[in-house]
Amino acid sequence: MSTEELKQVDKEGMLALYDISQVINSIQEPEELFNRVMDLVISTTKAERGLLMIKEQPSGELAVKVARNFQRRPIENPDEISQTILSQVMESGEGTLTSDAKTDPRFSGSESVMLYNILSIICVPLKKQDQTIGLIYVDSRTTRNVFTERDKVFLAAFANMAAISIENARLQARLRQENLILKEEISRQYRFENIVGQSTKFLAALSVVEKVLESNVPVLVQGESGTGKELVAKAIHYNGPRKEKNFVAQYCGALPETLLESELFGYKKGAFTGAAANKMGLFEMADGGTFFLDEIGDISPAIQAKLLRVLQDGEMRRVGDTQSIKVDVRVISATNRDLIQEVKSGRFREDLFYRLNVVTINLPSLRERQSDIPLLCRHFLQTAPAAKSKGIDQIENKALAVLMDYSWPGNIRELENVISYAVVMAKGQTIRLEDLPDQIKTARNGSATVVSGQSMREMEKNLIIATLKSCQGNRRQTAEQLGISLRTLQYKLKELKHDDAVSQA
Ligand SMILES: Nc1ncnc2c1ncn2[C@@H]1O[C@H](COP(=O)(O)OP(=O)(O)OP(=O)(O)O)[C@@H](O)[C@H]1O
Ligand SMILES: [Mg+2]
Repeated sequence: MSTEELKQVDKEGMLALYDISQVINSIQEPEELFNRVMDLVISTTKAERGLLMIKEQPSGELAVKVARNFQRRPIENPDEISQTILSQVMESGEGTLTSDAKTDPRFSGSESVMLYNILSIICVPLKKQDQTIGLIYVDSRTTRNVFTERDKVFLAAFANMAAISIENARLQARLRQENLILKEEISRQYRFENIVGQSTKFLAALSVVEKVLESNVPVLVQGESGTGKELVAKAIHYNGPRKEKNFVAQYCGALPETLLESELFGYKKGAFTGAAANKMGLFEMADGGTFFLDEIGDISPAIQAKLLRVLQDGEMRRVGDTQSIKVDVRVISATNRDLIQEVKSGRFREDLFYRLNVVTINLPSLRERQSDIPLLCRHFLQTAPAAKSKGIDQIENKALAVLMDYSWPGNIRELENVISYAVVMAKGQTIRLEDLPDQIKTARNGSATVVSGQSMREMEKNLIIATLKSCQGNRRQTAEQLGISLRTLQYKLKELKHDDAVSQA
């Protein structure tokens, strides 16, 4: 639309446009918006009939979204409208006005103009940037000269605004739909049948999970790395009454205090250098839902105090703010440390510990639930990305025996990774011993299997090397598994090096 044309929209027209923009911007449902736009068009132009058409995605076909007359009744035969005009506007992207269509040479080819006695017409495009996404059409079959040039300009300006609102509403509707689908998909992922395990220890932990689903009590999940702490936290959320709201997770280990604080609680504009605008904290985002605080044992005293307040009063304050915000959040925390020890040594507040730890869920390590290994393997074979396309659904007994024998310092996550690896390596439809990663095979080869004729020294050496490998070189973990102190392990390693040097000499 040119500025010359725009000048024709008088003050009254401008005010009407302003009012209309207020109305249509507040509507988020596409269907409702189409109807409202049509009402406004008909009432401001005094047209007899009106029509709103939108190009459908992805077909690109022009579809009628609303077609009605001034009595707000649907038009019975919307096809009794000049197709010539519609396609002209769609192709040119320009609006058109005619006050006597029957004598207008531009429409001399239009059957419907003649047939249905259409006299006055305005048709304007709905445009998103340069694209014409649809059109608005109004006509009158009873009167010539119903519309003026001013009406056309007015309608074109109106259509520009309406197009933006329509695009927004359609985008929002699509996002809402997608969001719903994604949420359902996530919920499905955390259904109980996807949490695998039959061993007594694991079932005991799972029975606690089931008991806390419906309540809001804070839960502390304890377990070694990779034992399923986050999985359990999500299962509690997605199987409980809060599932429609957000599940928010924050890793609290090894983060600078100020960073963690502004992540959790947000900040007020100007709270510190760099706080250019207000920022919402994760606790606010989790309102109505669940907050998973991972590695809770690492948080600083200042954050411990703020967290206590959330748990005690359901209130928090953004950094730099004096006002409190009420939040309704279920807190699930996790740690692989001994939190009681942290309390005893004064690093963790006792009052917070009791608030967080109303219910404890202790997840067993994979070593303690060896009997679940075959089940878990089968589960991961079903979920491993490449397994389906390669048709792999078996593990040979020899390989399974090695997997059952291994010490799994990385627990279920490590097992999941090993199966994914083996699936990639496997040639046939069965996973064989040679498809397993080296660290698993060698752990077995050099493991504590007793071979007669071996010296005590030799056996100890093999045991230490195998354990070191299974702990990926982590000496502290190795010592723990061997039941010796770190110092003893270091001493023994020194001795082994010495032995090697002697035997090589
Ligand atoms: N019982 C189970 N059944 C099926 N999959 C499981 C089970 N437990 C854990 N997993 C899977 O193992 C992986 C590790 O689990 P998760 O991330 O929950 O462990 P974590 O205890 O939070 O580990 P970390 O301490 O390292 O953060 C995930 O992919 C999870 O889906
Ligand atoms: Mg985790």
